[in-house]
Amino acid sequence: MAPDRALTDLLSISDLAEELGPLLEDAARLKTERRQGESRATLPGKNLALIFEKPSARTRTSFEVAIHDLGGHAIYLSPSDVQIGQRESIGDVARVLSRYVDAIAYRAFRHESVVELARYATVPVINALDDREHPCQIVADLLTMRERWADGFHGRRLAWIGDGNNVLHSLILGCAAVGLDLSAATPEAYRPRGEVVQAARLLADRTGAEFQLSSSPEQAARGADALYTDVWVSMGDEAERAPRERAFAGYQVNAKLLGMAARDAFVLHDLPAHRGQEITDDVLDGPRSAAWDQAENRLHAAKAILERLLLSAPERERGPRQRRHRRTRPRRRR
Ligand code: CP
Ligand code: NVA
Repeated sequence: MAPDRALTDLLSISDLAEELGPLLEDAARLKTERRQGESRATLPGKNLALIFEKPSARTRTSFEVAIHDLGGHAIYLSPSDVQIGQRESIGDVARVLSRYVDAIAYRAFRHESVVELARYATVPVINALDDREHPCQIVADLLTMRERWADGFHGRRLAWIGDGNNVLHSLILGCAAVGLDLSAATPEAYRPRGEVVQAARLLADRTGAEFQLSSSPEQAARGADALYTDVWVSMGDEAERAPRERAFAGYQVNAKLLGMAARDAFVLHDLPAHRGQEITDDVLDGPRSAAWDQAENRLHAAKAILERLLLSAPERERGPRQRRHRRTRPRRRR
């Protein structure tokens, strides 16, 4: 099922586009194998650098465990270690790290910084969240929905309640790519970026996915097959906390809103959650919460992403049981 196009970096979920289906299949298989104690070391000797400008629990830990499970090694570089763009230019960090490691995951304040790192790196770069996107999260989210919808994404509708932020941007693109309808409710002043919506419409031409935008959480939630929310104040937006908390006051996923969704609808949250703001305790901790499976799925998604970027197509096509372990040199791309 491996596509022949070389995936060099994962900067946006749209880099995966039509590859999302096979990637989700791989992630599901990797999950089953891990649960059965049959994880295979398909990336022995591979080193992954994690450059983080912002805090993280899930992204850092899932990538560290993922590369370890696959036989490789992670090197976490905190903001004070590298001081990327301050102590040294992003391009110089990219050039140097490419001589040591096989891939770089980068969590940045600015999307342009991730693009800049990828421009100079000669190894694959993974966007570990920036102000525009969070592609690794959306792979895990789609895996979580796929597990609950045996009949697939077509004919299903997800409702987003909250900020037009990085997670929503990747979700709009990801849903369009897999053919999942999405209704987003955001305050007027916190809409998703127009260029992302435009890009998603192009992807949706192929799959027929519909995207609706409104300012009504009730309209979005009514009859939806799943509800998804995220923090009102993302990392980097802290200076806007007071106006944001006012604007988002009616955008809470609670029992009343969930009652408007389909009878078997479930709730997604990428976490960390601000309980009592965008989501109530009873919903997050309740039987219809998928948030904990979603968090677990970050690990299986991370493994599928690492294999996709670091194994060649023939290696992936041979399948897990036939893979030979070998150390490959970083690609020279320029
Ligand atoms: N959902 C997510 O990316 O969590 P972290 O910020 O803890 O990595
Ligand atoms: N939108 C949130 C996601 C955290 C995983 C943020 O950027 O802080």
